[in-house]
Amino acid sequence: MPDLDNLASLIRAGHPVIIIDTAEETRVVESFRHVISKVWRPLYKWSLTDGLQRLDMTLDEPPLAAAEATATLQFIKEQKERAIFLMCDFHGYLRYPMTMRFLREIVERTNTVAHTLVLIGVGIEIPKEIESHTVRVSLKLPDEAAIGKLVRDEAFLYSREHGGKRVEIDAVAFKTIVCNLLGLKLPDARRIARHLVFRDGAVGMADLPELAKLKFELLNRDGVLHFEYETAAFADVAGLKRLKHWVDQRRAIFLGENKVAGLDPPKGLLLLGVQGCGKSLAAKAIAGSFGVPLVRLDFGALYNKYHGETERNLRESLANAEALSPCVLWCDEIEKGLATSDSDDGVSRRVLGALLTWMAERKRPVFLVATANDVSRLPPELLRKGRFDEIFFIDLPDSAARDAIFRVHFDKRKLDWAEFEMDKLVEHSEGFSGAEIEQAVVSALYAAHSDRVPLQQRHLVAELKATRPLSVLMAEPVKQLRDWAQSRTVSAD
Ligand SMILES: Nc1ncnc2c1ncn2[C@@H]1O[C@H](COP(=O)(O)OP(=O)(O)OP(=O)(O)O)[C@@H](O)[C@H]1O
Ligand SMILES: [Mg+2]
Repeated sequence: MPDLDNLASLIRAGHPVIIIDTAEETRVVESFRHVISKVWRPLYKWSLTDGLQRLDMTLDEPPLAAAEATATLQFIKEQKERAIFLMCDFHGYLRYPMTMRFLREIVERTNTVAHTLVLIGVGIEIPKEIESHTVRVSLKLPDEAAIGKLVRDEAFLYSREHGGKRVEIDAVAFKTIVCNLLGLKLPDARRIARHLVFRDGAVGMADLPELAKLKFELLNRDGVLHFEYETAAFADVAGLKRLKHWVDQRRAIFLGENKVAGLDPPKGLLLLGVQGCGKSLAAKAIAGSFGVPLVRLDFGALYNKYHGETERNLRESLANAEALSPCVLWCDEIEKGLATSDSDDGVSRRVLGALLTWMAERKRPVFLVATANDVSRLPPELLRKGRFDEIFFIDLPDSAARDAIFRVHFDKRKLDWAEFEMDKLVEHSEGFSGAEIEQAVVSALYAAHSDRVPLQQRHLVAELKATRPLSVLMAEPVKQLRDWAQSRTVSAD
């Protein structure tokens, strides 16, 4: 799509209707004031409140035509000199037969000169009759210099409104803020910058969490993305040595701190595994380890909210995730979002297509972490080599990993390992998932509480013995998954 820089050539090329879908009316009008210094033509602006006014010269005259739409179009049609007409919020009138007829005559140049009509507004939909005569123009997003200036302008404004009080600007925070506001539209970026400056009269590291929150709220008006405030640290995750090592090795490159020729930035992982073995926990810890926000994509909301527009909204949500970058985008239980069925008119196929296209083409550092339990429902295209950087399998923890899981959960609850026979606990928890081990610790604490004594070995052993782990209850599917994973995935531990 051409942008505002191309206006002069579009006008010279004789496009009769230019559509600019935006709320930034002032910016567009300003651009046209520049354009007429290159293409010498009269410039008019119409709005329902002010009627039609000439902009390229000051005329001390009332509006040139009645504000009403058809009268305006008639006036335009009768103009003998070709001109540019900026029509603000005019698209609402396109459904009236009289307006449509006049418009067609102007556009098809029936008994009139070659005018250029520019429709400016939000959500402009063009009737089929004139669609082929139109060209859409996008507004370029502000660049780094423009955003930097905007933040400094806001600091200056604050200072002026507070009797010349100096605004401390931390250089590192400034750079991070500018980087984070890239990808936003100018008025949105300005609103956030103003809030950050005016809340404390400074630009500092303390603004960064607020910035992440504001930006997220701005981008997620439709509720498909969830900002996960709680990430985790790798220290909270027992085992999964290989996965941790993999992430550690790639952190600097992902964050762009290091640029190494021949090393592409990491793009994403698929975590497959037995239920309760820490897939969700690992996704959170990857974000924690990268030190970036974690954003979860909710496929359920995507399908429910937008019947019939699912892929378009997926594309928008993915673009929003890019605007939030650097971040980790987490698709939990991805098989549920992408499983194909015959009954959905191919929606899930198209959603899969949109996701794959984005995975191949994304421009900004968004690290995708997808998790899944059920490989039989995963579309094979997603597993093909090159989609994800790696497919990790998170298996039931072995004895060393179970030992470590007990320790993590003892530490969390300020229990001293030395008071327990760890070997015995590890033995009794054979076949348990991390979630089941945690659950046993919690239940044992309740048992101890009702006995009115501190937690003892016997409470834990009793709980472990009383639990029938999923790996036993669902031995068949768990075995199938492990067999499948053996030859196709890398072990996370
Ligand atoms: N390796 C581990 N280290 C520490 N805690 C763990 C580990 N694995 C699981 N847990 C505990 O179990 C809880 C549940 O794990 P999690 O939700 O990550 O499992 P999951 O694999 O995503 O399960 P599901 O398939 O049901 O979504 C975690 O919040 C954590 O407390
Ligand atoms: Mg999970």
